[in-house]
Amino acid sequence: MTNLKRIACLAIIGTCFMTTQGFASGGGAGLASADIDPDNIKSLQRGAANFMNYCSGCHSAQYVRYNTIGKDLDLSEEMLVDNLMFNAEKTFETIQASMPADDAARWYGTAPPDLSLMARAKGADHVYNFLKGFYVDADSPTGVDNLVLAGTSMPHVLWELQGFQAAHFSEHHNEDGSVTTTFDSFEQLTPGELDSEDYDEFVRDTVNFLAYIAEPVRGLRVVLGKWVIMYLIFFLIIARMLKKQIWKDVK
Ligand code: HEC
Repeated sequence: MTNLKRIACLAIIGTCFMTTQGFASGGGAGLASADIDPDNIKSLQRGAANFMNYCSGCHSAQYVRYNTIGKDLDLSEEMLVDNLMFNAEKTFETIQASMPADDAARWYGTAPPDLSLMARAKGADHVYNFLKGFYVDADSPTGVDNLVLAGTSMPHVLWELQGFQAAHFSEHHNEDGSVTTTFDSFEQLTPGELDSEDYDEFVRDTVNFLAYIAEPVRGLRVVLGKWVIMYLIFFLIIARMLKKQIWKDVK
């Protein structure tokens, strides 16, 4: 095989690989990795319960149906109805927020966005760091600000679990007279019900669930992707054999 052909083959296989893995993981500079495991069904089940208990009061997830969640997360209809469907009657319904969007917008200044696609739009790492990034700020109407989304109007809804923390910043005076503020560290002010490791797990499960609802067909896509690559490799071999056969008498 010439070098050119080899490069072409690698490019095809590389492209297929990236397609199966997806570009959705997202993230940004300076964010801790959410380190989610989309194949961990137990984590997704816990995440679903976390979402329904702590988030669905304000946030909808209007592109996902309860019965899809039940099927993908190995939950029986009974488990769905008893543990997840607080404000829905039928399993084919989508997740609606308990709070009417207009009221929420009036109370919080910004309507809580639908979270169906949030983990794809902003990246799982962003959401993970956002949920860990609330710190006490006396000047804010909610009493807290957020390291990832400065000036956010979302209250620290997980304060009972995480407790409250302060953020320490340091100021650097630049030569041109401007001041750059950089984040140094968090300091735990009041303890929460969970220690910091368990809180990280709680947030990780929740973000795992949000990443799942952002792309419920991921599992199928990954399985299908592997078959597509195998199919391509198989036909590459056939095509090569065929080419040898056809050109064998041509010198
Ligand atoms: C009391 C209502 C309320 C609850 C409960 C709530 N949120 Fe929010 N959330 C908001 C509001 C309001 C915003 C809009 C904030 C903004 O744009 O400043 C928001 C925004 C967000 C965003 C977007 C952040 C961004 O970078 O744009 C994410 C992600 C989010 N919430 C996740 C969650 C999760 C996960 C939970 C459950 C653990 C939750 N929220 C619970 C009110 C709430």
